[in-house]
This record gives sequence, C-alpha cells and structure tokens, in this order.
Amino acid sequence: MLNDPQSSPNEIYLDHAATSFPKPPGVIEAVVEWSRRLGASAGRGDYPRAVETGEMLRECRVRLAALLGYSDPDRVIFTLNCTDALTVALRGLRLRSGDVVIVGPTEHNSVMRPLNAMAREEGVRVERLPCDAEGFADLEALERALRGNRVRLVALQHASNVLGALQDIAAAGSLCRAAGVPLLVDAAQTAGGIEIRGEEWGVTYLAVPGHKGLQGPLGTGALLIAREADLEPFRMGGTGSVSEEEEHPRHYPDRLEAGSHNAFGLAGLSAALRWLGEQGIGTIRRHEKRLIESFLKECFALEKEGVLRVTGPRDFERKSPVVAVDIPGIDPKEAARRLWEKDRIMVRPGLHCAPGAHRVAGTWPRGSVRFSLGPMTTEEEISRALDALRSVAASSEVSKRATPPVAARS
Ligand SMILES: Cc1ncc(COP(=O)(O)O)c(C=O)c1O
Repeated sequence: MLNDPQSSPNEIYLDHAATSFPKPPGVIEAVVEWSRRLGASAGRGDYPRAVETGEMLRECRVRLAALLGYSDPDRVIFTLNCTDALTVALRGLRLRSGDVVIVGPTEHNSVMRPLNAMAREEGVRVERLPCDAEGFADLEALERALRGNRVRLVALQHASNVLGALQDIAAAGSLCRAAGVPLLVDAAQTAGGIEIRGEEWGVTYLAVPGHKGLQGPLGTGALLIAREADLEPFRMGGTGSVSEEEEHPRHYPDRLEAGSHNAFGLAGLSAALRWLGEQGIGTIRRHEKRLIESFLKECFALEKEGVLRVTGPRDFERKSPVVAVDIPGIDPKEAARRLWEKDRIMVRPGLHCAPGAHRVAGTWPRGSVRFSLGPMTTEEEISRALDALRSVAASSEVSKRATPPVAARS
C-alpha cells in the first residue's frame, strides 16, 4: 500500500501482530512536533501549551471513539497498551469470590494471567468456551453458559493473535445484551485493520493497543466504555481536576486515568488515526486480505507437499492478517532465525503469549512460526517471504529425512 523510507529496503518486517512498522507518514513528525513545540502536561496549567496539549488529547479521544463506534469520547480511557486496558477493565469490575467470567477459547495471556490471579486470590471462577479446530468460539455454548448464576463478564478476543480466527462479536454481543452480562472485547489484532462497531455490537468494554493496527507509537492504548457501563478505578492519583478533593474523581475520563499522560505517544496516535481516517478501514482490510489470500494459497500448496502445516481458518474472509505455520522437523525458533539470517525477514516464533491458541492449533508446546502483515506490507515482500519460507521448509524436509523428527520439545 505504501512503501515508506523509514524501513530498510533489504529487511521485511512481518511482525505487525506485535507492533506495526513502519508508522504511516505524519506519525513520527507529530511526536517530534509535540515534543519540540508543546511539551507540557495536559490539565496541569492554563498556559497555552498545556491547553493545546489538552486539546490534542481530546481530539485523539474523539477520533478513537468515532473509529471504533463509541458515542462518548470522555469514555475513551488512555492506557499504556492493550494489556493495560484489559487490566483496567478486569480489575475495575471488582469481581468477588464465586463470580463467573466466561472467556474465549484462545485468549491471550493479557486476559488469562490477570483472571487466573483473580481466581487464585479472590475465588473468581473462569470458564473457557469450547471452539472448533480453526479457533471459532462455540456461541451456542456461550448462550448456555450465560444462563448460569453469577456470570459477571464475558471476555472474548476479536481475533486470535496466532490463528487469526475472527470471532462473531456482533452475535456474542447480542447474546450478552439479552442476558444482561457485560462483554469485554480484546481487539488487539483488529483495531485499525478490521471494522469495529463497538456500541452497536454490544461491546461494553473494548480494549485496543494504539501501537498495532491503529498505527500509533508503542506506549499507547485505550479502553473504550459503552454509555450505560461503569468501572471502578484501578489506579488513582492526580488528574489535574477537582484538586481540592483527596478522593479520586468519579467523572470520565479522569475516573480511570491517573498521573500525567504519554502525550508525545498520543500525539503520534492522533496523527495515525487521521491517516487511518483518510485511507478508510475498508481499503486497509481489502489490501491486507489480498496479501493474506496469496500468502495462504502458497502455504496450502506447501502443505500439500507435506512440508508445513497451516493453522487457523482456511478462509481468508474469516481471518485477520496473520498466518502461523508449523514446519515439521524444524524448531520454530530455528526457522525464524534462518528467515532472518538468510533473507532478512522478521517473524515471531514460539507460543506468542497465547498457550490456549496453540493447544487448539495442535502446536503446543513447540509453537509455530507466525507471519503477520500490515497496511505497509507490499506484494513484493509477500512473494520474497514465500520464497524464503519455501526454502526453509524444503531444508527441514531434507533434515527430517536424514534424522527422524524429535517429538514435542518445549
Ligand atoms: C490478542 C492480544 N491481546 C493482547 C495483546 C497485548 O497487547 P499489548 O502488547 O498492547 O499489551 C496482544 C499483543 O500481542 C494480543 O495479540
């Protein structure tokens, strides 16, 4: 879609599921511009630079709310990343012993670790939804589970960071709405690349990273909250508002934010959101789908030859732009090392902070090699990555024939 001079011509970055690179035009410039010209903390003074920073933050909230389908920009809470947004939601619900949280089948550790800690320390009960072999959650099982007592939350990924399975959030949202149970959606892999209509779909809490598909800098993220919902503050402190009170404010967004903002990161995120608005999410999705389709087709051909196995949905329409493959006879870390050393291709091997997804894929505990694409990825890069993958897979076949494969290694 766009070849940016920030990226070295010989390197191919295919780790957009971790963070996007290069950033769109205007993002780095906005970070630098804010740092040079303003550099003041919003809400901490009435002088023009602090006021302008406050206006920039407000604009960023307005853009996020509009893009992700939320009606009140004050209920856009800035966070450090998506993990932090999920924690603000999970801790803000003040779950107690015996409360039930229903989770999706392939949730990331950003959801599972805080919930497992709450299960251990506070007696919260965590129930995992079943799914099919491609990672799609069983929504009939969700409907049944919602009939249970003390269900306080459903936490579901929009897309798995390993399998790419795009869950039907609108359907899950309408089940949750009918049952009167809030829905927390982890949109780490979709925000900015796939359309999200938060409030319309019944998503009570939407957690997003600013630095992946939303194309902003690392250190940014947000939690969007539907109008009818509330959360208790997870972190408290100075907000620059109601300073006469020694209790944390109840109004949004200050209710869930404390301390000075990452204003330079958010200046970059706001510029990225403007760029996304100009491109249109539909254009980005079409571009990424075209690349995923050609990548998958070639992988299926290699699969037929028996040199690798593709995990997750086979239908690119129901897949976010990630393809994780299992190459029999070669350790994923070794495959990634060869891809980098020989062809300067950056991918992520291993378990991707999502052991549940690998159990579904049958790649636990060895992991897989994940290729993830973004709006800046080009057809030429995909074709070079496929050539490189073919050569790694072929070499592994040779070594597999020479020495029998070692069974599952950790
Ligand atoms: C599905 C999913 N959830 C949560 C996260 C955590 O995002 P962040 O790195 O912004 O904390 C990731 C990161 O890869 C992810 O893929």
